[in-house]
Amino acid sequence: MRNRLLALAVTVVVAGFPGATSALAQTAAPARRPDVIFVPTPEAVVEAMLQVANVTKNDTVYDLGCGDGRIPVTAAKKYGARGVCFDIDPQRIKEANENVARNNVGSLVKVVEGDLFEQDLSAATVVTLYLLPSLNVKLMPKLMKELKPGTRIVSHAFDMGDWKPEKELDVDGRKVYYWTIPKR
Ligand SMILES: C[S@@+](CC[C@H](N)C(=O)[O-])C[C@H]1O[C@@H](n2cnc3c(N)ncnc32)[C@H](O)[C@@H]1O
Repeated sequence: MRNRLLALAVTVVVAGFPGATSALAQTAAPARRPDVIFVPTPEAVVEAMLQVANVTKNDTVYDLGCGDGRIPVTAAKKYGARGVCFDIDPQRIKEANENVARNNVGSLVKVVEGDLFEQDLSAATVVTLYLLPSLNVKLMPKLMKELKPGTRIVSHAFDMGDWKPEKELDVDGRKVYYWTIPKR
């Protein structure tokens, strides 16, 4: 009965989160409970996110809640961009480090364990997100305060409240939103 209730709870939690099918197992305890579970962005959506932001080798891509690091790893591998992968969950950090090593992008991609709300974001030229609508809205003042004007922000699936995106894509039925930080 307890297991059935747990399974039901998990189903309720992941319902409505695009791509939420698995990846719920964890081997190490995070410093605090992650604000959102790990659900990977499909590769086609990763490609579209990097393309819409026009990522080049001159960019530094910060993925806030990076999971297995697929976004900064792809940005490094395909475009030669630098990247920083932030995640609060040690299991994801392990996977991201393995991904970086497997793809030989260790000279370009750094993996940082920690709370995305406590990081200094000022060195980013591109920020990627796949969080939740409420987390995007909570993050917005920090993005506005710390990021340089012109920094590009791309979010998979979720918009940012009243801040209207400059571009909105549909990739295989998934939404991608794009903004740039305005002049101050
Ligand atoms: C939906 S997944 C997205 C993973 C990756 N960005 C992608 O698109 O494939 C969200 C990730 O955010 C991480 N996360 C949740 N809360 C966090 C926090 N406060 N600080 C850092 N990472 C967090 C989770 O551990 C998870 O790996």
